[in-house]
Amino acid sequence: MTAEIIDGKKIAEEARLEVARGVENLLAAGKPRPGLATVLVGEDPASQVYVRSKQKACAQVGIESFGYKLPATASQEEVDTLVAELNANPQVNGILVQLPLPKHLDEERVLNAISIEKDVDGFHPLNIGRLAQKGRDPLFIPCTPYGVIYLLEQTGTKISGANAVVLGRSNIVGMPVALLLVRGNATVTICHSRTRDLPSVTRSADILVAAVGRAEMVRGDWVKPGAVVIDVGVNRVDDPTVEKGYRLVGDVAFDEVKEVARAITPVPGGVGPMTIAMLLKNTLHAAELAANS
Ligand code: GUN
Repeated sequence: MTAEIIDGKKIAEEARLEVARGVENLLAAGKPRPGLATVLVGEDPASQVYVRSKQKACAQVGIESFGYKLPATASQEEVDTLVAELNANPQVNGILVQLPLPKHLDEERVLNAISIEKDVDGFHPLNIGRLAQKGRDPLFIPCTPYGVIYLLEQTGTKISGANAVVLGRSNIVGMPVALLLVRGNATVTICHSRTRDLPSVTRSADILVAAVGRAEMVRGDWVKPGAVVIDVGVNRVDDPTVEKGYRLVGDVAFDEVKEVARAITPVPGGVGPMTIAMLLKNTLHAAELAANS
């Protein structure tokens, strides 16, 4: 069997068009243009690239973006003050503080300071807490996990009753993905560095989500025939045959696993494009909440 390759680029593009239409509808109803504030502390090269991509994507769908940069030496008070200003600014519907923050800053304190109505990353402890509780709903779902579920839904994968295995328990991806799968009535196993006999656990998965940051760790014989495999990993591996000297691979050995799975996301072009599309969706949602309040 050769798997269906899940086209994240195309699905993300459709989601972005839907956001663009939502923005048009708001403006047509006389509401203000949605706005997203991005906060970048320090000069981490990957974070700079991510923030620029987020701003560019906003422009494409008619969302205004406000970029704030603080030096790597910024104090906790400076970051707190900026977040408080953005909370009070009616032009700003969503606040995104790019992670990771420099080590001397208290990440939890910063995330806690963001108004939950503007928490388009979904990382506020209250939004995460609601995600983890029955009968409660977060205002926003973290973007990459939201993208994972969106891809599963778009490919017609039944989550309810499925055995789902999540590799990785990070705050940004693994844990919220697992919570979302539980909410979708899957039976969920979360694996991590202490998990014993990982291949036998992953082989039980109807849905396998890999988010550990280890290049091509998941091999063909780790996967149950017919499983749906979502690869969140983005890893650089040396490749002297290309000009850059490296290429990007996921946490899944794509060429092996695509012969076993029913459907699989490629890297790049799978989950990656979904993260920004879901951020745009969350920002539109924040603007709609503000417009109706
Ligand atoms: N760093 C890596 N992923 C993310 C994300 O989704 N949001 C933010 N703010 N920082 C990140």
